[in-house]
Amino acid sequence: MYVLLIYLVLSKIDAILVTKVHRSAIYTPNSACAALGNTILPPTDASIQSCIWRCVHEIQCQTAVYFHENRNCSMFGEHCEAGNISSSTNIRASTICCRKNDESNMHCPSTMISTAMPITTNIAQTWITTGSMSFERKFHTATLLQNGKVLVIGGFDGNNFLKSVELYDPSTGNWTKAGDMNFARSSHTATMLSNGMVLVTGGTYHNITELYNPSTGNWTVRGNMNFPRYDHTATMLSNGNVLVTGGRDTNNVKLNSAELYDLSTDSWKMIKNMSTRRCYHTASLLPNGSVLVIGGSDGSRCLNTAEYY
Ligand SMILES: *[C@@H]1O[C@H](CO)[C@@H](O)[C@H](O)[C@H]1NC(C)=O
Ligand SMILES: *[C@@H]1O[C@H](CO)[C@@H](O)[C@H](O)[C@H]1NC(C)=O
Ligand SMILES: *[C@@H]1O[C@H](CO)[C@@H](O)[C@H](O)[C@H]1NC(C)=O
Ligand SMILES: *[C@@H]1O[C@H](CO)[C@@H](O)[C@H](O)[C@H]1NC(C)=O
Ligand SMILES: *[C@@H]1O[C@H](CO)[C@@H](O)[C@H](O)[C@H]1NC(C)=O
Ligand SMILES: *[C@@H]1O[C@H](CO)[C@@H](O)[C@H](O)[C@H]1NC(C)=O
Ligand SMILES: *[C@@H]1O[C@H](CO)[C@@H](O)[C@H](O)[C@H]1NC(C)=O
Repeated sequence: MYVLLIYLVLSKIDAILVTKVHRSAIYTPNSACAALGNTILPPTDASIQSCIWRCVHEIQCQTAVYFHENRNCSMFGEHCEAGNISSSTNIRASTICCRKNDESNMHCPSTMISTAMPITTNIAQTWITTGSMSFERKFHTATLLQNGKVLVIGGFDGNNFLKSVELYDPSTGNWTKAGDMNFARSSHTATMLSNGMVLVTGGTYHNITELYNPSTGNWTVRGNMNFPRYDHTATMLSNGNVLVTGGRDTNNVKLNSAELYDLSTDSWKMIKNMSTRRCYHTASLLPNGSVLVIGGSDGSRCLNTAEYY
């Protein structure tokens, strides 16, 4: 049984919180107390008040919890009562404030509550060592499969580019070796497609793509991209196709080109170039289907520019 003491000390805070807060239209509640994340407050600014202010200014935040012991502020996307928030570890004290409804100011009840509720949030309060991989690697990818396992692919071990593949099983904490890819690669991309297969593109130093079938464990080589690329991006579009942008080629030339993997024909085609050569950039699928490409490096400098497809 875990006991969480909740000190509710800020009876006066209602008066100073006048910001009108709107709940984000795109936020979809997924649990009674959906965690938005842990904010580590800077030591000079670690207080219940600053935790509440963070929540006030985070549009999705409905509840703020301050952990005195470690000066962390946790925010939740739902209205959580004191009893809804508990901890798997011995966090000694916290204070909870919440909005009574979507548009109300923060409400900080002034009574002290102690509770021994079961865990109802999934915030990890600590780091726990789990099984180690069979291979050391960096510049690899990790993809959550539909069966809940995590597929870790390729990368670089300090000497060699890797074709080895491993699967992590969260239920056991165990890693198992999966079949090797046909080609070693590092700084590649791995994208889970709508059919559950994983499309792996490029990497050091080639244009080769492969498809992983989680149900058979098989790798099959698919069509080459038009450019060899590494440090590029791959983003699944809402129609299931995959947009690949930028990166660098075998000669370390930074690329402005982009290409599309067509799921239905299993083939690649070039699309219009980006305005800027980019590697190490990011690409995000927007709710309306556009892909926003941000920053990166053009080879001579880091970029602050962004463009969308
Ligand atoms: C935040 O909380 C986590 C989990 O309790 C803890 O490991 C970490 O040290 C805390 N951070 C700070 C700055 O106290
Ligand atoms: C949250 O707390 C309220 C009040 O204590 C309780 O009615 C509700 O069932 C709790 N919800 C969950 C998911 O524990
Ligand atoms: C892997 O599985 C075995 C057998 O189920 C278990 O004994 C072992 O502790 C697991 N390893 C880890 C790191 O959890
Ligand atoms: C694909 O998987 C099946 C079933 O596991 C196996 O029989 C077959 O040999 C595999 N094919 C390749 C190319 O590895
Ligand atoms: C793609 O890779 C294949 C196999 O390595 C190579 O023969 C071909 O020239 C490459 N195409 C381009 C455009 O680099
Ligand atoms: C895209 O840019 C490359 C040079 O980076 C150029 O060779 C190619 O012709 C351009 N393609 C289009 C469609 O403009
Ligand atoms: C998607 O949203 C962006 C940013 O709001 C907008 O500029 C773009 O035109 C939209 N794209 C489509 C296809 O509607």
